[in-house]
Amino acid sequence: MDWNAGLYDQQHDFVAAYGEHLLALLPDGLGFAVDLGCGTGALTGPLTARAARVVGIDASPDMIAQARLRLPQVEFLVMDACDMPWNGSVDAIFSNAALHWIEDQERLTAAMARVLRPGGLLVCEFGARGNIGRICAAFAAAFQAALAEEGIGAAYLNSERFYFPSADEYAALLVRHGFTVRLAEEYDRPTPLKGGQDGLASWMSQFFAQDMDCVPQAAQEKIFAAVADALRASQWDGGQWIADYRRLRVVAVKH
Ligand code: BEZ
Repeated sequence: MDWNAGLYDQQHDFVAAYGEHLLALLPDGLGFAVDLGCGTGALTGPLTARAARVVGIDASPDMIAQARLRLPQVEFLVMDACDMPWNGSVDAIFSNAALHWIEDQERLTAAMARVLRPGGLLVCEFGARGNIGRICAAFAAAFQAALAEEGIGAAYLNSERFYFPSADEYAALLVRHGFTVRLAEEYDRPTPLKGGQDGLASWMSQFFAQDMDCVPQAAQEKIFAAVADALRASQWDGGQWIADYRRLRVVAVKH
């Protein structure tokens, strides 16, 4: 999908702020670490303090362009994570808020297992089962209603688009690919969105941009307003929108 890298940094910098806790799960003194799905590189910088060589990879050219501007001295590559080339030579893969976007999880997990050396670490966090469940349900209903009104026939497939597994399901996937799982925990992380009343619409324009491609501007606004109406009672705290994030945090070792 096309990412708006500028909006991501200004409005959704909470993504990286939460990820800093995840960095603490990595040891110091690593040789080679990969930041998988590095986005604009907000966590790739701090990662360089823990590893002699760091490479940030992301499938989005816009994100990588922004990351290179932020950190010209760091190696960033536009790359599909399933095609990582470094067989058996990576000491750690770090990934924050990225894995749920990747469609083929078997291929991805095989690729991570292939590039890590024996004893190499996977430290990642992404959406757990039920992540943004209320937002997705409200968005799906509003989206289908607005498109029906416009006479546009499009099926909304959001729930199938993201990979939000339970801890047990993800641990089983890792074990099948040769990992020992040290930690796999799901937790609720209610997440305040910046921008006051407009925060939810801004979040949807960033993260559901792909769905909006085929939707005329006026219908987009109707969808945003309908989602806000549906969620006001549960997700508006009087000053800000609270997104219903659930996270899955994982530490696993390749054997
Ligand atoms: C997230 O959990 O970070 C996320 C997943 C899908 C869309 C937007 C955000």
